[in-house]
Amino acid sequence: MVARVAENVVIVSNRGPISFSHDSDRNLVARRGAGGVVASLGPLVRDTGAQWIAAAMTDADREAAAAGTVDAEGFRFRSLAVDPDTYRMAYDVISNGTLWFLHHSLWDLPRRPRFDRRWREAWDAYRAVNHTFARAVIDEAPADATVLVQDYHFALVGTWLAQERPDLRAVHFTHIPFCGPTSIRTLPDDVAGELLAGLASHVSCGFHARRWARNFEACCEAMWGWTPATFVSPLSPDFDDIDAVAESPESIAEGAQLDETLAGRRLILRVDRIELSKNLLRGFLAYEDLLRSRPEWRGQVVFAAFVYPSREGLPEYLAYRQEVETVAARINNQWGVPGWTPIVLDMSDNFPRSVAALQRYDVLLVNPVRDGLNLVAKEGPMLNTRNGVLALSREAGAWEELGGVALEINPFDIAGTADVLAAALAMDDEDRATHAAALRKLAGARTPRDWLDDQLAAARSTR
Ligand code: G6P
Repeated sequence: MVARVAENVVIVSNRGPISFSHDSDRNLVARRGAGGVVASLGPLVRDTGAQWIAAAMTDADREAAAAGTVDAEGFRFRSLAVDPDTYRMAYDVISNGTLWFLHHSLWDLPRRPRFDRRWREAWDAYRAVNHTFARAVIDEAPADATVLVQDYHFALVGTWLAQERPDLRAVHFTHIPFCGPTSIRTLPDDVAGELLAGLASHVSCGFHARRWARNFEACCEAMWGWTPATFVSPLSPDFDDIDAVAESPESIAEGAQLDETLAGRRLILRVDRIELSKNLLRGFLAYEDLLRSRPEWRGQVVFAAFVYPSREGLPEYLAYRQEVETVAARINNQWGVPGWTPIVLDMSDNFPRSVAALQRYDVLLVNPVRDGLNLVAKEGPMLNTRNGVLALSREAGAWEELGGVALEINPFDIAGTADVLAAALAMDDEDRATHAAALRKLAGARTPRDWLDDQLAAARSTR
């Protein structure tokens, strides 16, 4: 039986379905919140009466938080304000600066992490933010409610729910990878223990890929000799949503402009956040290797990198963005000729343009060093109209679903990635058609509704 989202469901996530800003008269204006979790869950939850609690991230959000739970844009929504410094420490230092790096294997181990006294204060802040959210659920959730806790920002919420509201059925869903037992040993022991225990206090913990669930289980096994309940439920894009964008006048105009830029050349595309885990630099270096080792492609192909800024509050991200710009400029200087720019790097956040490009690629490069799932790897095959080829990192969660068809990338192997790009460009029409049809089927096999139903079912499962 398919479970329904209803009034007795509470969702907890960092970004909410609504975010607030001030208009010129300093009045609060509500608009749709950003981010993948909201885009996927929002349409399924709107008008169901489910309650959604999310963090107040800006001054306007904090002002809106004073009103408590509001009904807006079809959501019963509560923006929850935590002291801004405490929130910043929890979000920047722990969620993004520690857990993100840990689970994506991004540590530069000779230098980082550094768990000093200041970091300990940030861990206390993370605990405090989690406790505040747990408190809100404890105070407001209807009897026997299902609680869907989203992502690594809220690993500890279940701890207090289990203690104070045993009637609730809470599941936790992690949208990023999960590290294995060796990596989790980098954390101070008490922190690793608290983190795992927080997750394990939910009825079940969900992941986009079996590999991340297994890592979590292995961490728990190593720590306690037993494993908590887990479930695996990969998210998929809503085809109707992205197709509506593809048919919008903005996207059509962007597509026409892209066709002009390409002028009949082949298109290698990537669409990503500017994010350390996405492996933009090695992607460019692999493309350069292709131009160097296969002169026949010079002037015949364009690499469009439609990437948009992320987390610019963290110095590592600012530095990475600069490196991305520098490497792309150097390659363009070295290989470009009048009339042909090898890399088109665009860093503006323009979803209609990304969608237009996804319809047109010959090769889609998705080469993260590690990724919880990677929705672009599914959006591409769903949208593409040219029987484009997907070159996919085996380190992306989506590899578990698409790996039987997509061309395999070892994201650390630059020469190997260049070889895969060359093979993808050289694939004949018949192979491309077979490849694209198979990918379309795999990418469209599930809907966001399936993913939500899996969480609701996990919450009702017996421990
Ligand atoms: C990626 C991850 C999500 C995460 C989000 C946070 O999209 O896949 O799991 O919630 O980053 O990004 P933010 O901009 O909110 O820090």
